[in-house]
Amino acid sequence: MTNNEDKLKKIISHSKEYGFVFQSSEIYDGLSAVYDYAQNGVELKKNIRNHWWKAMVQMNENIVGIDSAIFMHPTIWKASGHVDAFNDPMIDNKDSKKRYRADVLVEDYIAKIEGKINKEVAKAAKRFGEAFNKEEFLNTNPRVIANREKMKAISKRLYGSLENNNLDDVKALIEELGIACPVSGSKNWTEVKQFNLMFATQMGSTSEGANEIYLRPETAQGIFVNYLNVQKTGRMKIPFGIAQTGKAFRNEIVARQFIFRMREFEQMELQFFVRPGEEKKWYEYWKAERMKWHLSLGMNKEDYRFHDHEKLAHYANAATDIEFDFPMGFKELEGIHSRTDFDLKAHEEHTGKKLRYFDPELNESYVPYVVETSIGLDRMFLAIMSTAYNEEKLEDGSERVVLNLPPALAPYKAAILPLMKKDGLPEKAREIMAELQENFMCQYEEKDAIGKRYRRQDAIGTPFCITIDHDSLEDNMVTIRDRDTMKQERVAVADLRQIIDAKIRNKA
Ligand code: GAP
Repeated sequence: MTNNEDKLKKIISHSKEYGFVFQSSEIYDGLSAVYDYAQNGVELKKNIRNHWWKAMVQMNENIVGIDSAIFMHPTIWKASGHVDAFNDPMIDNKDSKKRYRADVLVEDYIAKIEGKINKEVAKAAKRFGEAFNKEEFLNTNPRVIANREKMKAISKRLYGSLENNNLDDVKALIEELGIACPVSGSKNWTEVKQFNLMFATQMGSTSEGANEIYLRPETAQGIFVNYLNVQKTGRMKIPFGIAQTGKAFRNEIVARQFIFRMREFEQMELQFFVRPGEEKKWYEYWKAERMKWHLSLGMNKEDYRFHDHEKLAHYANAATDIEFDFPMGFKELEGIHSRTDFDLKAHEEHTGKKLRYFDPELNESYVPYVVETSIGLDRMFLAIMSTAYNEEKLEDGSERVVLNLPPALAPYKAAILPLMKKDGLPEKAREIMAELQENFMCQYEEKDAIGKRYRRQDAIGTPFCITIDHDSLEDNMVTIRDRDTMKQERVAVADLRQIIDAKIRNKA
């Protein structure tokens, strides 16, 4: 097991042990790729959502929010292209009867070659010690060069065939590479077929005559179909944006890596409506703004990169992913797309209704162009957990697991801890609790030794522990312990609110 796989496993078990994320329907042996947020997870998730909403809606006068329904008219998904093109290429193994995403089988094969290269690098680094030059080694070692070329050639063929919808060639590639079913070890494959990712259900009291409708696979279409309602009732002037957070559903076949790829997940999306011709300027603007947002949370800059798309979807004229270095490596966290007027035009065509904006400055009507930012809330949760999760060795030789969450996002801001369960300390602690919980999520704990209680709060990322002792009854002072530095300070009860508030405001 690599260190990174190890880290993901640790995050999964920490999330379960400390009440952040549970497998859905666990007592029925679980439901694959569906998760429940537990008592601490729901607070963290809500704080991330609120933080996004504040940055996008509250701080921008020209952006408003909506909350559209999950069920929508089925023709919407025809217009958006999801009925015809929201597919994954699937292949079945005839012996194990297991179904796989054909592209992922090939990608896993490529990852194995990469693994071999990494092993060669690690071996050479050990052999050459300080004199080792990784770049030079990668460019000169014949085995590494051959493997890198092999990876490139396989990728080129895979993505070329997918692009041209040449599924026979994807199957041929799987066979030529000798890829076997991970379960049965057999190479007895079916044809590759496209499989639509939308969940369908029936609307109506009986299935006879009922309409098939879909659970939305993205929240964006709820914004597009409401764009004119919002523009008119909100008297919005271009450029303006509509933001939305909410559930989306995709029947992901390769659903793994915890909450990275789920079948039911939550998106936070902005559609920003602009004048045709100005979309590239706004695309660059939102690219920069969104990266700023991530870094404002105190996330590590080196864990982020842009991946600009070279091959664009037919409706986009620019697209990039903000990738994050998850424990599984760099992967898409957020997408920013310049979607032209594709969606609004498609809805015009399918409804026969005009979705135009009259621009008083230009004295003309047009279908606005759209720049979209779309981030998975669950993926952001995982990115934050992977950054925050730390195992520390302390000076006294003991260890602690701490979640160094941005204070503004932490489920609880303070824990109120009477040193003992007697002598009036709980009563004093309750008074402080009652005052602080008006403003912050606080936790009251009087069980166990104080050290143990500190560790529990570290593990759920509480920025402050406030301890009430016998002196507190006399001088109205308490000890406040900082989660990250573990430094303790004596402060007046009257100052607590301001101290906590300053911490939350300063960092994220
Ligand atoms: N409206 C554009 C759109 O939906 P997308 O790239 O398909 O674009 C946007 O999805 C974001 O939603 C992704 O960057 C990712 O963070 C999140 N996302 C997509 N599929 C997901 C899944 N199965 N599980 C969790 N998050 C997912």
